[in-house]
Amino acid sequence: MTKNDAILITGAAGFIGSHLVDRLLSLGKIVVGLDNFNDYYNPQLKEHNLSAALENKAFHLVRGDIRDSEVMKRISDTWQIDTVVHLAALVGVRNSITKPGPYADVNVTGTAKLINWACRCDMEKFILGSTSSVYGNRSEVPFREDDLTDAPCSPYAATKKAAEVVTHAYHSLYGIQVSCLRFFTVYGPRGRPDMAPFKFIDGIYRGETIQQYGDGNSSRDYTYVQDIVEGIQGAVENPYEYEIFNLGNSRIIVLSEFIKTIEDILGKEAKIEYLSDQPGDVKTTFASISKAKRMLGYRPTVSLREGLTEMIEWYCAHTSFFESQAGA
Ligand SMILES: NC(=O)c1ccc[n+]([C@@H]2O[C@H](COP(=O)([O-])OP(=O)(O)OC[C@H]3O[C@@H](n4cnc5c(N)ncnc54)[C@H](O)[C@@H]3O)[C@@H](O)[C@H]2O)c1
Repeated sequence: MTKNDAILITGAAGFIGSHLVDRLLSLGKIVVGLDNFNDYYNPQLKEHNLSAALENKAFHLVRGDIRDSEVMKRISDTWQIDTVVHLAALVGVRNSITKPGPYADVNVTGTAKLINWACRCDMEKFILGSTSSVYGNRSEVPFREDDLTDAPCSPYAATKKAAEVVTHAYHSLYGIQVSCLRFFTVYGPRGRPDMAPFKFIDGIYRGETIQQYGDGNSSRDYTYVQDIVEGIQGAVENPYEYEIFNLGNSRIIVLSEFIKTIEDILGKEAKIEYLSDQPGDVKTTFASISKAKRMLGYRPTVSLREGLTEMIEWYCAHTSFFESQAGA
């Protein structure tokens, strides 16, 4: 990477993407952010996520779609990009069950088009935001990168696995460096409103009933967003040919404990509606992170209580925003 090379972040206005933008700008990088501001959740939240970055002259926002070749040509004509961090995706397990077509189109075809463009432009490195969902319903824990991942449980998971495989084809054809990062349930400020951490905080804060799927014994390896960003930074800085890394916390939290921690921090009791397991959801996730520790210098440091406290502070500082945006 030369001094003037820029990093392209797709999905830059989203939850994880906007934190990565802020981190890379703070390190003095030139960052091009691409996002189509889709309405899966309120696009004004995405605008808000980038408000600080837009004050920085080293940040360049492109509003457009990763599948639009005109947009991609404009980017490669304007900036010298060395590294792509590909976070744009259609997200959400449940939505993918009712709308599988667009998920395949954005997450698989879109990824193929994007990495093909990166290879044609002679870019050095492609980092893919993948997911713990590719492990499916495994009972042997912790999940290791070399475990079989050929039995996903939702269209979303299947498209993310397919994206990993697609990037391997391009690595093998053109030699582009690829790191696939499997994120484990990310939470923190700017957290997605469709995800359980936001829904629980929002519901408990407002005194509304929250929905708990299953018996409360399902568990997740919740990972704080700044720890994830640290791991992505490690992948940006370390050259590898083709590697897959888990970015999790390597700590299991059962659902009932997760809700209890939010109740404690907010000082409010949750009203809970108990529902049966959701189709597509897995029982547990738990990352082995020894490979990321060894090869990326990845060291997650934020405890669940610290991370949830940060997320709740962010939530409370924006309640008027959420109220004014509700239903928008
Ligand atoms: N949040 C998590 O817990 C989690 C866990 C595992 C994996 N991931 C992966 O991390 C990445 C980021 O997730 P997130 O939670 O920040 O989601 P997010 O929805 O907040 O961010 C994704 C962004 O991509 C944009 N986008 C979607 N389709 C696009 C397209 N065709 N062209 C341009 N932009 C497009 C959206 O507008 C959005 O701003 C995704 O690839 C997701 O699969 C997230």
